[in-house]
Amino acid sequence: MRIDIISIFPGYLAPLELSLLGRARHAGLLDIHTHDLRQWTHDRHHTVDDTPYGGGAGMVMKAEPWAEAIDSIVSDDDAADRLKPLLVIPSPSGTPLTQPIAARLAAEPWLVFACGRYEGIDQRVIDHYSSQLRVEEISIGDFVLSGGEVAAMVIVESVARLLPGFMGNAASLTEESHAPGGLLEYPVYTKPAVWRGREVPPVLLSGDHAKIAQWRHDQALRRTAKRRPDLLHSSESVQLSELDTSLMVTRGQRGDAPELLSLQRSCWVSEAQLNSALDLPPLVESLTDVRNGIEGWTTFVVRAEGRLVGSVRARLDDGVWRIGRLMVAPDFQGRGLGRWLLEHIESQAPLEARAFELFTGSRSTRNLRHYRKAGYRTSVIPPSEPGIVVLRKPRPR
Ligand code: ADE
Repeated sequence: MRIDIISIFPGYLAPLELSLLGRARHAGLLDIHTHDLRQWTHDRHHTVDDTPYGGGAGMVMKAEPWAEAIDSIVSDDDAADRLKPLLVIPSPSGTPLTQPIAARLAAEPWLVFACGRYEGIDQRVIDHYSSQLRVEEISIGDFVLSGGEVAAMVIVESVARLLPGFMGNAASLTEESHAPGGLLEYPVYTKPAVWRGREVPPVLLSGDHAKIAQWRHDQALRRTAKRRPDLLHSSESVQLSELDTSLMVTRGQRGDAPELLSLQRSCWVSEAQLNSALDLPPLVESLTDVRNGIEGWTTFVVRAEGRLVGSVRARLDDGVWRIGRLMVAPDFQGRGLGRWLLEHIESQAPLEARAFELFTGSRSTRNLRHYRKAGYRTSVIPPSEPGIVVLRKPRPR
């Protein structure tokens, strides 16, 4: 990835030589160029700012040095294949930086950062380049720094560590805070087991990996609820009109497996009775199967005051979003949660999905009624197993 950073204080960007970033540069993973904006000024004082039109405090960065700087960098012959960079302008009025934004930027071959100072850059620079390049104004938080340099370094670091080969251990990317799953990271401990009288939580010394995963998940939930309730409440909390309790929806994690196994067994007993089949997979599969299922499918779990009360999963298969394991705890049934879960998993279908598909027992008349009401119709494809009805619905466009 190529990165160009323009600033009136390029010396501020020296830390980009250090640590993992420095190593990635030496390894050729990152090609970072810093530039002094003043080299594109032509007066004796190397002026880069002027008073704002309309009055007011502070100074505004002049358009011309920025345009000359950006033009000269974008037309650099060394830049492979005449690519067009994404122009990133760190600004407290930009879109807040998030992990998905960092991941999106990490897929770009070339980023150019324009680090403003003072009251910002003349708006016409942004408008002009928006018609020629892609331009994004990004904020690193709801506070004001003296300039964009530190913000650019924050963005560069969050992006660079997602590049393949940057981190020694790719698993640490999936386990950390703000990884998909939407929770803050659980607390971590290392040796010694007792430090200044403080013990490491005993479960971490137990060697029981299922218990450890469950404990970590629980800690991550508590921490998120306490410090960042917005993460839970904006995207993950549902209030169903028929339900008085507030439900929390999260992506299923390995640690959910033991509870999910219990829930699915309790939910599929009635299916087994109705369809005279005791060997239904949700009833007979092992904890490992459930764990693998959580990892192999897009799984959501719903909790009410910490208790797992519902779940659903899906995965894309040949353009079809195959939905399964839609379950609701017996005491939560008949209150709209099943319908909500179905709508939720449909809304998560990737763009490539042309249709939704699910199946149920041919004698499960209640399920069949619910699915028909949600727009599903019996599929023309013959079911792979007897006693099963496959239902399909074209994806609404
Ligand atoms: N420049 C000044 N403050 C900033 C912020 N919070 N984010 C990005 N760039 C900035």
